[in-house]
Amino acid sequence: MAKGRKQIVVGVTGASGAIYAHRLVSCLLDGDVDVHLIVTPYGHRLFSDELDIKDLGASSFSTSHHERLSVYGYRDVGAKLGSGSFRTDGMIICPCSSNTLASVSTGLAENLLNRAASVTLKERRRLILVPREMPASHIDLQNSLRLSEAGAIICPAAPGFYMLPQTIDDLVDFVVGKLLDLVDVEHSLNTRWTGEVGSGSERGAETEA
Ligand SMILES: Cc1cc2nc3c(=O)[nH]c(=O)nc-3n(C[C@H](O)[C@H](O)[C@H](O)COP(=O)(O)O)c2cc1C
Repeated sequence: MAKGRKQIVVGVTGASGAIYAHRLVSCLLDGDVDVHLIVTPYGHRLFSDELDIKDLGASSFSTSHHERLSVYGYRDVGAKLGSGSFRTDGMIICPCSSNTLASVSTGLAENLLNRAASVTLKERRRLILVPREMPASHIDLQNSLRLSEAGAIICPAAPGFYMLPQTIDDLVDFVVGKLLDLVDVEHSLNTRWTGEVGSGSERGAETEA
């Protein structure tokens, strides 16, 4: 574990769901975390296609703590994230394409995102992958199982509906809240089951009345 402020690596790949990555990075920064961000070329494309963010940088995120974000070159395998000697509190790949799932599950390390994931595994740190593909192929499932057996956490982008989401943001927050819980970062997103359907939402209150 890193000393001082939490250090989390975030990898963003070319799976659909750039909005998850956008919200995750913003919440981590607001949650007093130093975020080390690596985005693949297709990750950049999806940020552009889905969020109209063309030139991804610190100012792209909704936070007042832009100074906590470091963005790394995808090809720069020599960056500090490529070594286990740079101590982090884990890595989240969100969203995770089937392509990156396959690369990480076979130990490929030809770019900084894959290398950082490999390092996270070898150092026995927390590695969380958020696959977004449906249906999952047999190969996707085998790759997920292999990673799970190696200690990684597979956390598919599959929001629940028991909190009675009203907006896309509610659905996104459900997934992001789970991820923040998994890296032990405090948040106030309405994602925790309290034993009552829709607890915390207006619609839940109406349903009970
Ligand atoms: C518009 C668009 C949407 C895509 N959505 C997904 C997806 O949801 N899941 C996935 O596994 N791949 C998806 N892909 C394919 C990946 O982007 C492609 O396999 C790419 O090689 C992934 O590279 P990366 O893992 O380096 O980001 C999508 C591609 C495009 C252009």
